[in-house]
Amino acid sequence: MKRTVIQGGHVVDPETGIDGLFDIVIEDGKILSVGDSKPGTGDWKLETIDATDKVVTPGLIDMHTHLREPGHEYKETIQTGCLAAVHGGFTTICCMPNTQPVNDNQSVTDYILKKARAAGSVRVYPIGAVSQGLKGKNLAEYGEMKAAGVVALSDDGNPVMNAQLMRRAMEYAKAFELLIISHCEDRDLTSNGVMNEGVTATRLGLAGIPNSSESVMVARDIALCELTGAPVHIAHVSTEDSVRIIRNAKERGLPVTAETAPHYFSLTEEAVLNYDTNAKVHPPLRTAKDREAIRQGLADGAIDIIASDHAPHSSVEKEVEFEAAANGLIGMETSLPLSLKLLEKGFLSLTDLVLKMSVNPARVLRLDHIGLKPGNPADLTVIDLEKRFTINADTFRSKSRNTPFNGWQVKGKAVITMVGGKVVFNDY
Ligand code: DOR
Repeated sequence: MKRTVIQGGHVVDPETGIDGLFDIVIEDGKILSVGDSKPGTGDWKLETIDATDKVVTPGLIDMHTHLREPGHEYKETIQTGCLAAVHGGFTTICCMPNTQPVNDNQSVTDYILKKARAAGSVRVYPIGAVSQGLKGKNLAEYGEMKAAGVVALSDDGNPVMNAQLMRRAMEYAKAFELLIISHCEDRDLTSNGVMNEGVTATRLGLAGIPNSSESVMVARDIALCELTGAPVHIAHVSTEDSVRIIRNAKERGLPVTAETAPHYFSLTEEAVLNYDTNAKVHPPLRTAKDREAIRQGLADGAIDIIASDHAPHSSVEKEVEFEAAANGLIGMETSLPLSLKLLEKGFLSLTDLVLKMSVNPARVLRLDHIGLKPGNPADLTVIDLEKRFTINADTFRSKSRNTPFNGWQVKGKAVITMVGGKVVFNDY
């Protein structure tokens, strides 16, 4: 038998209210205690991890990633996606169903889970499709997918344009206790747009996507949430209007939650000025006013979660004219340092950050184990808040390189990622 002690770290866990210098004792892959208790003596091998001057948090959870397998293994595989996750400090990730074939049935869910077990590092929870083939015509098999292990439903990448279908989806999802994650986009308003609508798009000669393309769908899905009583989670919030509508729905007590991604609180549409296709993403990067509203939404709780929307694409899809380039950027390996910038800017405390990147995703997805409670699997992240580094895509574990953050100077990094008591990443 083995006992591990993570010694003297600053433990921050909003789930249990722990915030201070403590030792964490781990046995058989589970948390035995968090406190001043010493590992004791007994018939075990003792391993000690010195966490002095480091922060120890419940394992980070990224509830919005694209792992591309099956079907687009040249962009990412489940194995490389898992490696990118642990490199970024994540112990649990959820993967969206827009693979080839689409994850709209039990066999694809089984396949993903089998590959994830073989990768053997992070916990992977698949998200099933709302509609068969993501086509927005017929509902997928929710009961079958739930039994196979999906934790939520989404047509992410595509909106569910038909409101009646979304209503039925919410009713069935509620019956199966599955959360709907909505990619809010009105495709008629997006039209042929490729970046945010406004003067920058005009200057670049590119067709724009108005803010309302997102916010009308946020309003619609909140109305459907009210009609059906089913909880709804709004994915990748990018606009001021969306934040206001979500805040208002929460004030009215509706079961609405929301996430944003680091690119929406770090960048603006100006990142596209030199036609950088790595900054081409759906929804698009918006204005400084929107970015400020996203930061405020995170600060006041309108936005519950930070998720990366890790969307790997190869150079074949990105090194082309802006209009033709694929949407999306990779994020699992930059999410934590970019989010830590919100602490410096005063928008989040360390506790808030752990809420947005671990506790809230676990609560929203109703995962079995939340926080660092005794008896929970020892999933945790050790963070060095002082570690400065330059983001360099060539060092990424992801198979893809499509990041607009290459060359950014950042501070703060996961140095140990532990899943079920096993160190799966160590950069101490
Ligand atoms: O930019 C995006 N890329 N937005 C999405 O919603 C889907 C994603 C992808 O799958 O590439």
